[in-house]
Amino acid sequence: MTYFDYASRDSKENESFNELMVKDTQFLSSILIGDCKKIFNRMKSLVDVGGGVGIMAKAIADAFPDLQCTVLDLPHVVAGLHGNKNLTYVQGNMFESIPKADAVMLKSILHDWSDEDCVTILKKCKEAIPSKDNGGKVIIIDMIVGNKKDDHRGIETQLFFDISMMVVVNGKERTEKEWEKLFFDAGYRGYKIVYELGLRSIIELYP
Ligand SMILES: C[S@@+](CC[C@H](N)C(=O)[O-])C[C@H]1O[C@@H](n2cnc3c(N)ncnc32)[C@H](O)[C@@H]1O
Repeated sequence: MTYFDYASRDSKENESFNELMVKDTQFLSSILIGDCKKIFNRMKSLVDVGGGVGIMAKAIADAFPDLQCTVLDLPHVVAGLHGNKNLTYVQGNMFESIPKADAVMLKSILHDWSDEDCVTILKKCKEAIPSKDNGGKVIIIDMIVGNKKDDHRGIETQLFFDISMMVVVNGKERTEKEWEKLFFDAGYRGYKIVYELGLRSIIELYP
């Protein structure tokens, strides 16, 4: 079974994994709504796909009260969680369907999956968003291996994550060339690296 199937059957594992992601996302969300506000300009709706227990979506929803935020995740992760005026939880499977929105966020998602699975997820995201001219975009937060060429310890850490992803979830960390191939294979027309958060980057992807 996949790691996420396993987590759905073992409540302790599910809890500790979600807690790990909460800590990471609390740290990153404060940077995103502080230094990277302009990412959300003119955006009316956003779906955080595989958004876990909703830490990122909550932070964004609080910072931008006119932005309608949705968290999509597996039933064992979001069951029993309650949203508010501009935050909604949806139980679902990103390989099947993603709620429609101006933008989709994928934080620490694609590195969990093989290239084939990533292309499927990215195609589903594309079905959920409008054209680029109408504000459609996918916001990816993940590593770009080698983004800081002279930071040897940083590259070592990225490669450590690459091995961990391979062992735990059959995923990988990717270089910019590898990302580019996924994007074009999934039918996107362009992308921009909008911010570097140390070893991780924010990439905007346009249909
Ligand atoms: C590495 S965690 C990232 C969580 C969150 N984005 C964050 O950064 O805090 C991966 C998330 O993807 C979710 N996930 C895995 N398979 C999924 C699927 N088929 N559909 C929707 N969510 C899925 C997991 O339950 C988990 O919450």
